[in-house]
Amino acid sequence: MRLLGSVAVLALGLSSKVVYAADVDQELDEGIADTGLDTGPWTAGEVPPIADMITVNDFQIAAKNALAAKDYAYYRTAALDETTYINNLIIWRKIRLNGFSFTDVSDLNMNTTILGYPFSAPFFIAPAASAGRAHPDAEANLVRAAGKAGILYTPSISSTLDIEEIAAAAEDGQVMFHQEYIWANETRLRDELSRMEASGFKALFLTVDNTGINGVRDRSLRFSSGGESAHSSTFTLDALNRLRTLTDLPIVPKGVKTAHDVKLCADLGFPAVYLSNHGGRQVDGVPTAAEILLDVHRQYPEVFGQLEIYADGGVRRGTHVLTLLALGARAVGLGRSPMYANVFGEAGVSRLIDVLRQELETEMKLMGQADIDRWHGNTTFLNTRQLELEYFGAPLDVPTSSTPFVHSAPPGGGPGRRAAMFAEGDMS
Ligand SMILES: Cc1cc2nc3c(=O)[nH]c(=O)nc-3n(C[C@H](O)[C@H](O)[C@H](O)COP(=O)(O)O)c2cc1C
Repeated sequence: MRLLGSVAVLALGLSSKVVYAADVDQELDEGIADTGLDTGPWTAGEVPPIADMITVNDFQIAAKNALAAKDYAYYRTAALDETTYINNLIIWRKIRLNGFSFTDVSDLNMNTTILGYPFSAPFFIAPAASAGRAHPDAEANLVRAAGKAGILYTPSISSTLDIEEIAAAAEDGQVMFHQEYIWANETRLRDELSRMEASGFKALFLTVDNTGINGVRDRSLRFSSGGESAHSSTFTLDALNRLRTLTDLPIVPKGVKTAHDVKLCADLGFPAVYLSNHGGRQVDGVPTAAEILLDVHRQYPEVFGQLEIYADGGVRRGTHVLTLLALGARAVGLGRSPMYANVFGEAGVSRLIDVLRQELETEMKLMGQADIDRWHGNTTFLNTRQLELEYFGAPLDVPTSSTPFVHSAPPGGGPGRRAAMFAEGDMS
């Protein structure tokens, strides 16, 4: 109850400093834990010193300080009472990490593949519209920072720059995917798909959680009317199959919110699926990616061997990345944070990537497994019992360290271990 009370306070945005539920015992600003960032010397309306940016969350406070209220609201907004937005941020508190001592962590490997393409980290910049609200160079900053860091960026079709301008900002050989909506206007859809192909984008994140309409987002509605989204409201399975004939690019449905739809995408032969509640901006009350992944373990564990799963929502820490990877995600997306970092331009986005990469490296080493390959689908590292109890009403059979199977196994199995778990039928 105390938690619900605090959520209501945050949703109303009554104060820039909110004392969170007493049991959490932390002062929060916009739902962010107080880590000692001193905004006192900052000038309102200006970009603060980049040296002050120590955590991913710091970039949000900087953006709030620097941007016009309507632009900050555009990025920050979420649907209805923002229950899902808040849940995305606090779900991590319900999961315990099992770190193992007595291992050699001197050899760090964070390289991974996403849809078969090599990248230097298992996190990527998710599609988010209108980067131009934060910086005049808009998405070009995100392209360049991602390119230099060797991570994936997937621009939004509602970007400030157009498809060709974004492609032109890429480094030689930089691999990018592109996001697309299912527009009611098929001519527009066909045109954009062919331009994405011609511009060298390698895959499509097809957003399927906007059925003709955007979520009701109060914070941004205070500055402009919501209006029509122009997305198709008749996006049935037939329409999906038809769309697959319009492009040769691999298609990854984005915005999948149930284990049922993950299974459907696997059965339909998609190479990957992207779990996302759109950062809490569409339906308020839907589950977080961690909860959906647990449900996939419960109902359809076989799909982990059939397609790649990407996930996002509230990822702000290295430990959040690791949690989703261990639950079976191949890679995880960052939505708002890079947009906030863009108030500093390319340098801000680069610093954000460095901050997260550094945290990830630290946490991997502290947890006793420095090879990212050995995190994917390795639930050994997690104790999700509290979440399972809350979400399903009872603990699941997903093997975590509290199961005898894991106690008898060495830590850090990775894909081999995951495959072994499937072979042993241990992922019921
Ligand atoms: C300002 C903003 C614009 C977004 N625009 C899009 C978009 O155009 N297409 C899309 O598929 N998702 C869009 N998203 C959702 C993100 O891709 C992502 O799912 C979400 O932001 C992840 O949550 P996070 O912000 O907590 O990291 C947008 C999110 C934000 C915050």
